[in-house]
Amino acid sequence: MTSSRLDAFPRHVRIAPSVLAADFGHLADNVKAAHAAGAHYLHFDVMDAHFVPNLSFGPAVIQSVRQASARVFDVHLMVTEPMRHLELFLGSEGDLFTLHVEACADVPSTLQAFRAAKKRVGLAIKPDTPVEALLPYLPDLDLALVMTVEPGWGGQAFMPAMLEKVRVLRQAIDREDLNVRLQVDGGINAETAVASVLAGADVLVAGSSIFAPGQTVADNMDRLTAALHQAGISLAPVE
Ligand code: DX5
Ligand code: ZN
Repeated sequence: MTSSRLDAFPRHVRIAPSVLAADFGHLADNVKAAHAAGAHYLHFDVMDAHFVPNLSFGPAVIQSVRQASARVFDVHLMVTEPMRHLELFLGSEGDLFTLHVEACADVPSTLQAFRAAKKRVGLAIKPDTPVEALLPYLPDLDLALVMTVEPGWGGQAFMPAMLEKVRVLRQAIDREDLNVRLQVDGGINAETAVASVLAGADVLVAGSSIFAPGQTVADNMDRLTAALHQAGISLAPVE
């Protein structure tokens, strides 16, 4: 890796630990540990046992840890028709809400409903959903999310075939000079993080590689950031 390559790398990357893999009995402490270790976002996976088979937690749980960190609360809604629970979600003080294109009958009006409440909005696609389903909405988004596992559970293996979607979205974002972050979620560890960033991602969601039992959040964050630095990739400053 030459220093000119290091200097030339075009993007600063953000890390979003997913609390789905945290110890729910000590959730606030886990959020504080991720904050202290330099997490840019905290990623909250809301699952409704309908859009995905699993059930996780709802807005009240997100709200309960707001005092633990003022960083961006990145709420991933794996929920059918999130409009049905709009007021509840808005009450959770999440900062960024990512909807699934497959979950909304009317994507533009759902995005608009969150925007009207002065929230940042993202749009996600599952592994079987073509990238073309997301492309038309890019100018309306703060974030595009490429799922790199089937949504529903943590701890699954990264799907390398999803990197092609990341490349297509990166090209589209850069071509139009859009202010849209490009997130990957699922199976992210030191190795797949680097591959994802080289394909164009700039926000990395990581659950089980950060909140691994018997390891510290700080050590796991260090391992991830060291791998990125070694590949010549810099992290964004923590806001
Ligand atoms: C999966 C969730 C992910 C999950 C990632 O449906 O959207 O955010 O927490 O977990 P890992 O990093 O363990 O794959
Ligand atoms: Zn997620």
